[in-house]
Amino acid sequence: MTPPLIERFRRILPVDAATPVVTLGEGGTPLLRAPRLSERYGREIWIKWEGGNPTGSYKDRGMTVAVSKAVEDDAAAVICASTGNTAASAAAYAARAGIPALVLVPAGAVSGAKVAQTRMLGATVLEVRGDFEEALAGAQELARRGTHVLVNSLNPYRREGQKTAVYEIVEELGRAPDAFVIPYGGGGNTSAYAQAIRELGLGTRIVSAEAADRRHTLASAIRIGDPVHAASVEQAGAQVLPVTDDAIVAAWRELGALEGVFCEPSSAAGLAALGIGDVQGERVVLTLTGHGLKDVAAAERYAPPPVQCDPSPDAIAKAAGT
Ligand code: F0G
Repeated sequence: MTPPLIERFRRILPVDAATPVVTLGEGGTPLLRAPRLSERYGREIWIKWEGGNPTGSYKDRGMTVAVSKAVEDDAAAVICASTGNTAASAAAYAARAGIPALVLVPAGAVSGAKVAQTRMLGATVLEVRGDFEEALAGAQELARRGTHVLVNSLNPYRREGQKTAVYEIVEELGRAPDAFVIPYGGGGNTSAYAQAIRELGLGTRIVSAEAADRRHTLASAIRIGDPVHAASVEQAGAQVLPVTDDAIVAAWRELGALEGVFCEPSSAAGLAALGIGDVQGERVVLTLTGHGLKDVAAAERYAPPPVQCDPSPDAIAKAAGT
C-alpha cells in the first residue's frame, strides 16, 4: 500500500497519535525531467506531476490532513466551494471518512468531468447561481453556523498538507531549485509553498501564473476574480505573472506533445509564464496541478482534430501522410 502522506510527513504536520488517518494513498507523485521543454525554453525544467494523486489533483495532499483533522474534531460534515478539484477531493476523502460532503460550485462554470467525479463520489453537489466568490461566502457562513467544517484552503490544515509537495521536490532533487512555478487561482497553494520554503530555509522563488482574464479564462480551475489569499501571495514575494488563454493553450499542447504529460489547462499556466521570459533561474520546477482527464471538454475543443479515413491500408497511409 502507498504510505499515507500523513505518515510520511508526520514530523512536519499538525497531527498526533489521536488523529485518525484518512487516506487514499496521496502524494509521492512523480518528479520528471523535461528534456525537450528544457531545450526549447533554454533552462533546466522539471515537472512535478500532481495529476498522479488519487483524485487527479494536488488538492488531495491538503484534503487528507483537513478531513483527518475534521474527523478528529468530531465534524458531522464538511463543506467547500470549488471550481471543481477541491470538490472532487473533498467528496473522496469525506466518503473515505464516512461523513457527508456538501459541495458548492458556480453554476455552469465548472468542468463537467469534475462535477461528474464529485457526484459519483457521493457528495451533495449544489450549483450556485453566482460566481466562485459568492459560493465561497456561502460555504464560510455555513461553517460559521457550525453545521459543517470548511475544507477550502482557508482551512490551515489544507495548506499544511499542500506544503509537502515542496518537501518531496527538494528531497528528490537533492537540492532546492531556483524557482517553483505554479498556477495561481485563489493563492492557497502559493501560500502553502511559501510556508514550506520558510520552514526549510530555502532561497527558492515562487512564480505564480494567473489568468490574464481571471473571470473568463478557459482554465476554469483558476477562474477566480478575487483571490482570497492575495495578501499572503504578496507577502510571500511571489512573482505574479498574468498569462493569456492563447499562451495557456499553446503551453498545454506542448506539455502533451513534447513531454507526454496530459494536464488540465490551468496547470499549463506555469509553462506559459516561463514563455514570457522574465522568470529568473536556471533550474525550475513546474508543478502540474491537475490531470487532463479532469477537463475532457476543453481537450476536445483545443486538441488537433482527428482525420477520418477509409479502412484500407492505402487510405490510412495517405491520410497519415506517410
Ligand atoms: N490548479 C488546479 C488544477 C486547481 O484546481 C487550482 C484551484 C489551482 C491550480 C489554483 O490553486 O487556488 O491554490 O491558487 N482550484 C480550486 C478548486 C479553486 O476549487 O478546485 P490556488
